[in-house]
Amino acid sequence: MSGSALRVGVLGAGNWARLAHVPGWQRDGRAQVAVVCDVDEARARTLATELGIPEATDDSHAVVTRPDLDVIDVVTPSQTHFELAWAALEAGKHVLCEKPVAYDFRQTRRAAEVARRRGLKTKLGFTFRYSPGVRFAKSLIDEGFTGTPFIFNGYEQNCQWLDPQVPLRQVDHTRDQSVLQTSSLEGYGAPIIDIGHWWVGADYARVVGTMRNFVPERVVRATGRMMRMNIDDGDIFIGEYANGALGSIQTSFVTIGNYPGIEARLYGSRGAIICRLVEERGVAETIHVATPDDVAFRELAIPARFYPPGGHPRESWRSLFYANLVRDFIDEILEGGARNQGSFDDGAWVQETINAVERSVHERRWVELPLDG
Ligand SMILES: NC(=O)c1ccc[n+]([C@@H]2O[C@H](COP(=O)([O-])OP(=O)(O)OC[C@H]3O[C@@H](n4cnc5c(N)ncnc54)[C@H](O)[C@@H]3O)[C@@H](O)[C@H]2O)c1
Repeated sequence: MSGSALRVGVLGAGNWARLAHVPGWQRDGRAQVAVVCDVDEARARTLATELGIPEATDDSHAVVTRPDLDVIDVVTPSQTHFELAWAALEAGKHVLCEKPVAYDFRQTRRAAEVARRRGLKTKLGFTFRYSPGVRFAKSLIDEGFTGTPFIFNGYEQNCQWLDPQVPLRQVDHTRDQSVLQTSSLEGYGAPIIDIGHWWVGADYARVVGTMRNFVPERVVRATGRMMRMNIDDGDIFIGEYANGALGSIQTSFVTIGNYPGIEARLYGSRGAIICRLVEERGVAETIHVATPDDVAFRELAIPARFYPPGGHPRESWRSLFYANLVRDFIDEILEGGARNQGSFDDGAWVQETINAVERSVHERRWVELPLDG
């Protein structure tokens, strides 16, 4: 580590870097964003000026190999994540990477192995795992509030792309449009699949799912024009966890409702928890619980200890949840040891589940996990 603070290089100077990542690092006095890099150098310069970052560049190779940086934060479009994260790990940096690290779980697993061998910490952009409400729920689960887990229901749904004029990104517009392309399951499914894994405490043993394209034509950002895009903009799957619990996941970006649109429900032998991360009337999230002797769900106040310094229930979820994520990553790096939650290992497991659901959809059958190889 160089100096007293962790020095961070941020790759990508787009929306999510501006709203979530850089504010997260800057909120914690133990880290300093030293440089921001974007292939569009003007964008890097603009963000550096706006948020007070000392350096801006368009050379990602030079950034990941700089000896004076401890952490590389990858906030670029999804298809670039693996190459950048891999280069950063090879250069000996701790890596925070937006999801997915790679579309094939085997690549994410390889990256996790490199990190482990080199004693480096990794973290995925599983934003919602770090919401105060989801963390509070996890602490209740760990204390035994829910007992044996029976059923997990997870949703990530909102209407970000219901209007076909809103430019779609993160899709391959050159693909054969006669074949349904995974989209919402990947972008929206990953964080809620991760929460289910974390709360239930077991891997999926098998899954079966279905996906649908509801809005057939859209404006695509890469082309700037309206075109046929056969993407999954809504999907549902069910699964059996290895510990006997059952799970269901539903994701969509054409279902009416506000951001982020997460709902996680755990029903167990002793209690039930419903955590709802839907920004409504200025409040980012709520948590309700019920027990066998008090079956009417009641709202719980989220204790202050689950908030980042200065955080409160009416703060935007974008900066609120990310502040917790970044703070936890800084803790993990500075304390050393083995603790590393929401890591590339978790990312590989989530990606394997997504790959299994894709296989189930295309082959119209249940798929057993783990997948071969
Ligand atoms: N976890 C979440 O809740 C969440 C929310 C929003 C976005 N995201 C993810 O964050 C990532 C970025 O999303 P965004 O909305 O900021 O996109 P964006 O398009 O606004 O920004 C991405 C930036 O990366 C730059 N870029 C592309 N290739 C690069 C490279 N090789 N090196 C450096 N810069 C490069 C682009 O020029 C662009 O400025 C995506 O993977 C997205 O899925 C996650």
